[in-house]
Amino acid sequence: MHVLYAFLVLVSISDGFDPACPGRCFCDSAQSVHCYRLTEVPSGIPSTTKKLYISHGKIQHLQVSNFTQMLALEDFILLASGTESVEKDTFKTLGTLKTLEFWKNKLRRVPTTLPASLEVLKLNDNSIYVLHGSDFEGLEKLKILELKNNLLSSLSPSMLSSLVSLQSLVLDGNNIESVAGPLELPHLTRMSMENNQLHLIPAGFFTSLQSLQFLSFSSNFLTKVPINLPKSLLSLKMERNRLKVIRFRDMKHLENLSHLYLSENLLSSIDGAQLLTNLTTLELSQNQLPTLPLRLPARLQKLDISNNLIQRVTVQDFQDLRELKHLFLDNNTVSLFEAGALQRCSQLSNLALEQNLLLSIPLRLPGTLARLDLKGNAIRDIAERELKDLKQLQVLNLRNNKISALDLRALEVLPRLRHLYLDGNPWNCTCSLLRAREVLKAKGTDVRGGQCAAPAERQGESWMSSKKILRQCEHLLHQTKKSKEVKKKPKPEEHSSIRINMDDDYYDYEID
Ligand SMILES: *[C@@H]1O[C@H](CO)[C@@H](O)[C@H](O)[C@H]1NC(C)=O
Ligand SMILES: *[C@@H]1O[C@H](CO)[C@@H](O)[C@H](O)[C@H]1NC(C)=O
Ligand SMILES: *[C@@H]1O[C@H](CO)[C@@H](O)[C@H](O)[C@H]1NC(C)=O
Ligand SMILES: *[C@@H]1O[C@H](CO)[C@@H](O)[C@H](O)[C@H]1NC(C)=O
Ligand SMILES: *[C@@H]1O[C@H](CO)[C@@H](O)[C@H](O)[C@H]1NC(C)=O
Repeated sequence: MHVLYAFLVLVSISDGFDPACPGRCFCDSAQSVHCYRLTEVPSGIPSTTKKLYISHGKIQHLQVSNFTQMLALEDFILLASGTESVEKDTFKTLGTLKTLEFWKNKLRRVPTTLPASLEVLKLNDNSIYVLHGSDFEGLEKLKILELKNNLLSSLSPSMLSSLVSLQSLVLDGNNIESVAGPLELPHLTRMSMENNQLHLIPAGFFTSLQSLQFLSFSSNFLTKVPINLPKSLLSLKMERNRLKVIRFRDMKHLENLSHLYLSENLLSSIDGAQLLTNLTTLELSQNQLPTLPLRLPARLQKLDISNNLIQRVTVQDFQDLRELKHLFLDNNTVSLFEAGALQRCSQLSNLALEQNLLLSIPLRLPGTLARLDLKGNAIRDIAERELKDLKQLQVLNLRNNKISALDLRALEVLPRLRHLYLDGNPWNCTCSLLRAREVLKAKGTDVRGGQCAAPAERQGESWMSSKKILRQCEHLLHQTKKSKEVKKKPKPEEHSSIRINMDDDYYDYEID
């Protein structure tokens, strides 16, 4: 920020860009003025200014006289300037003002008598502790109201009743303990009250919110999904609450609901979600589910049920989920994974099974998988029959298992493999493992190999890069190398073999 400020000051002083521009301000040709480190709103802001942006100053108080000249002002943004109060009617006569933003100041009240032209009002990170109906009187064009991180403790219909055009209301990070309804906001499509102190949403709260599509009550103390949710809902977030059960019967009118977020609750069973026919995303991570939910919606594309207590994955669990693309089952206690359990999921591309208790790679996984994560299980070997159908697989993570040897044939059947994570396994660094290394290199696969656990004289060597082992096995490798070169010529940079830093624990394997 210092550098930016210095630069802007320099520009505004040095090039004589606009001689009428006040000090510590930068005036650009698009009638916008940016000012930094001020102690008051400067006089001499050009009267044609449409956008005024003031930040990182110390302007305790704003008053009417500060704005009387600014008859063309459309956007006023005051950021981090320690502002505590605004004189009555300061903005009243600014008939073209559309956007008013006071971020990170010290306001305790909403500025009064705002102009009817206002469309966006953002008062995030202040100390506003109460709203009055009169605060918003006449704001019939206001579409966006944000009051994130203030000190509000309640919300009632009379506070917002003037806002007939409101589309988005954000009240995250307050201390709201109670809400009353019905809120009469017929055009509201988005409402967020994350991170408050709500225990209960009264039954009539939503009756006049007939356009609501996105609703979030994440991080509250709710024990129930609110009833009478609006039919128009597309997305409902209830993460980090205290839900113990979900009654899908009370939600079945939500025919367009596509995203439901229930992670970090206290759910120990889920049944009947199939009533939400259009659900495509269901997140249930960090609950206490001992089994996979029965009867999931057939349109589901993403299911996150990681961090639960699931032990078994069976054919029956997934027989109807033909559109599933992403399945997260990581950090459970899965020890039984039936062969072909996901065969019907003919679009599955991501399967996360890390941190479970699997002893082998599940059989007959769908051939559409692009990424398979099996990190942190107890897998002892890799067999050709487990991988042979995975023609699309690009990322295979077998880190931190109990594998000591590689079956070359198992890896040769994976034509698209680009990233292979094998570190954290007790490798037996025989010369045949080195042969596998040459094959993987020739394929251009990026491999994290890890270290040798045996034989004793090679312990601790990194088998993907060790020159010592390479020397010791050279006589055996020569032949393999030659025959492979005819098939597929490695790219030049792959000859300089030791490029991967084996100490680097971090890896990232986004698929593009
Ligand atoms: C703006 O308001 C401050 C008080 O915050 C006052 O001292 C100053 O004179 C005003 N400037 C103009 C141009 O009215
Ligand atoms: C559900 O979505 C469809 C298609 O977008 C729309 O026509 C319909 O009005 C929506 N239903 C409700 C209750 O909002
Ligand atoms: C939701 O599902 C119903 C059938 O249950 C269908 O008529 C409607 O078009 C779907 N809406 C969307 C947005 O897919
Ligand atoms: C796995 O789940 C346990 C219990 O739910 C939790 O304490 C732990 O932090 C989780 N680990 C990861 C890596 O998410
Ligand atoms: C490593 O492999 C060799 C050759 O197959 C075998 O004789 C030896 O017992 C293995 N060592 C360990 C620790 O598995």
